Amino acid sequence: MSDLYRFGVSLEKTLIEAFDRHIEAQNYKSRSEAIRDLIREELIRKEWREGGTVAGAIVMTYDHHKRELVSVLLDIQHDFQDTVISTQHVHLDHHNCLEIIAVKGKASDVEKLATTLKVQVGVKHLSLSISASSAE
Ligand code: NI
Repeated sequence: MSDLYRFGVSLEKTLIEAFDRHIEAQNYKSRSEAIRDLIREELIRKEWREGGTVAGAIVMTYDHHKRELVSVLLDIQHDFQDTVISTQHVHLDHHNCLEIIAVKGKASDVEKLATTLKVQVGVKHLSLSISASSAE
């Protein structure tokens, strides 16, 4: 953060008290940092809604013994090679794999990739976390 810009905000007492309780529970060091995070989250949501460029990660677990599943999941990722930045594969136990797929691209492509992976039989859990947008 090279250029800091200060501005004043007027809030109702009950609202700022509730906010202070909230940020204390979250262990924020200052209101400024909490407000910065809220603004970033809103900008990411806006980018997501408007189909802009986003970056984040798909985290999924699946049963690699499921017939053909590993090659199906790989084929899907190759179909989205412009969206997939990198993958990390962890062999959780005898049956289960954990895969973390870093993604960047149009919100619609990222969502389509996540959904296409999620519906495959044998994929036990999948979450998509968007951490950045081109608006920042
Ligand atoms: Ni594995």
